[in-house]
Amino acid sequence: MTVVKNICCIGAGYVGGPTCAVLAYKSPDIKVTIVDLSEARIAAWNSDNLPIYEPGLDEVVFACRGKNLFFSTDVDAAIQEADLIFVSVNTPTKKSGMGAGMAADLAYVESATRRIAEVAKSPKIVVEKSTVPCRTAQSMRTILEANSTSEIHFDILSNPEFLAEGTAIKDLLNPDRVLIGALQTESGIEAQNALVDVYTHWVPKERVITTNLWSSELSKLAANAMLAQRISSINALSAICEATGADVDEVAFACGKDTRLGSKFLKASVGFGGSCFQKDILNLVYLSTQLNLPEVAAYWQQVVIMNEYQKKRFVRNIISTLFNTITNKKIAVLGFAFKKDTGDTRESAAITLIKDFIQENARVAIYDPKVEAEQIYMDLSEPGVVDTQKQLEKNIQICQSAYEAADDADAVVIVTEWDEFRDDQLDYEKIYAGMKKPAFLFDGRLLVNAAKLRQIGFKVSVIGKNELAGTA
Ligand code: UDX
Ligand code: ADP
Repeated sequence: MTVVKNICCIGAGYVGGPTCAVLAYKSPDIKVTIVDLSEARIAAWNSDNLPIYEPGLDEVVFACRGKNLFFSTDVDAAIQEADLIFVSVNTPTKKSGMGAGMAADLAYVESATRRIAEVAKSPKIVVEKSTVPCRTAQSMRTILEANSTSEIHFDILSNPEFLAEGTAIKDLLNPDRVLIGALQTESGIEAQNALVDVYTHWVPKERVITTNLWSSELSKLAANAMLAQRISSINALSAICEATGADVDEVAFACGKDTRLGSKFLKASVGFGGSCFQKDILNLVYLSTQLNLPEVAAYWQQVVIMNEYQKKRFVRNIISTLFNTITNKKIAVLGFAFKKDTGDTRESAAITLIKDFIQENARVAIYDPKVEAEQIYMDLSEPGVVDTQKQLEKNIQICQSAYEAADDADAVVIVTEWDEFRDDQLDYEKIYAGMKKPAFLFDGRLLVNAAKLRQIGFKVSVIGKNELAGTA
């Protein structure tokens, strides 16, 4: 029976960092070393100012860092020491070449796998943790087997991560399920059991699911695709609500009460973002196309098409409400992260919206409580433009508070549902007083009480709600 005593995690990002920190926290008998090529990232993990904002993360890291949790750039030493290696490197959508814009770029997974093959001096269990297209484990296995000897045997497991940003620590401490896929050979099953034993340090055994490798890989893509599909479904309905006077919150509530549907992931919004949903659906589309299943590909593609439509629809509504032009108007954008309680901006709806506002020659004032100015400039820059920041500064202003952003603005646009933007937290009377009149407010997150803000004097427009609803 294999007992895991030493774990290495390659990739100290949003997935690897929190996941392995919780693992160390819950398993004092296991030494966990998280490695990364980025010296800056590792230095931040070793400092008081961790590179990722995630509620509860500081407490977990500070409790075990230096005891059984280590952060290092010495990738080779950590690989050599470990019995089990998590590969948690980034797998962005390919920007060029075959499958560009659709398929995942597996260059980082491949290079981490090759590194393991090159430097390992003893048997290892290699665990694919990054979200990857189906059959990546097979490629990893081919690379590792081509380099293994009779003394060095590699087992490959798939153990996708289901944490959501903003609630990562809660999700990791109390997961709905942990999924571990393995080749159903004697040694594959032994490796699978070894990882089951690691998780059952704190996860009840019945929540640890074991499957074959391919089921595990596909389940991760499927779960994300189905979650995103629910959001696109409610967003599609939000358009009907606006046109008819139905209220999307009421529709979601009524549907969610059906226990077969459930209430989660039915919040209409300006569009989903984050590093996973779009990427994973596009992976599924690519896979379906490759498998010659065009109808299946088109089915999933529609979830992404609807998401793009929702963002464009929101922008169109803003422009038409502001008398068909936003040229030289000041738009205050509240929130830049793709959801609340994270500083992550990957695929955030804010990026698409603001780029559209800039195209229309608006002046955009942006405030987000957690996103750094540098990140905002990076996200808004267009490829090939030199001196991006200077160019952008003509159109955007990065603010330190919602009040500063809204000062003298024609419109306030709520893009991220940060609690501090709620009407019981932010002083909307003060915001109103400082704005141009009429003062418009667009709520892309169903966050504020529109009736209350209308009483102040705002002209309010909310996704999935029609101001005249209920009056007919
Ligand atoms: C997602 C999955 O939830 C997680 O299991 C997986 O491991 C990674 O991808 P994440 O992207 O971190 O997690 O956040 P999530 O809470 O799923 O939100 C994704 C996007 O959907 C956000 O932009 C969020 O604002 C939006 N959303 C979510 C809605 O618009 N409406 C909802 O009802 C829920
Ligand atoms: P995710 O959201 O999947 O965790 P991130 O981009 O936040 O993605 O993190 C992935 C991390 O993996 C990055 O910090 C990157 O530097 C690191 N990384 C990529 N390739 C390697 C490699 N071969 N060895 C070590 N670290 C790597």
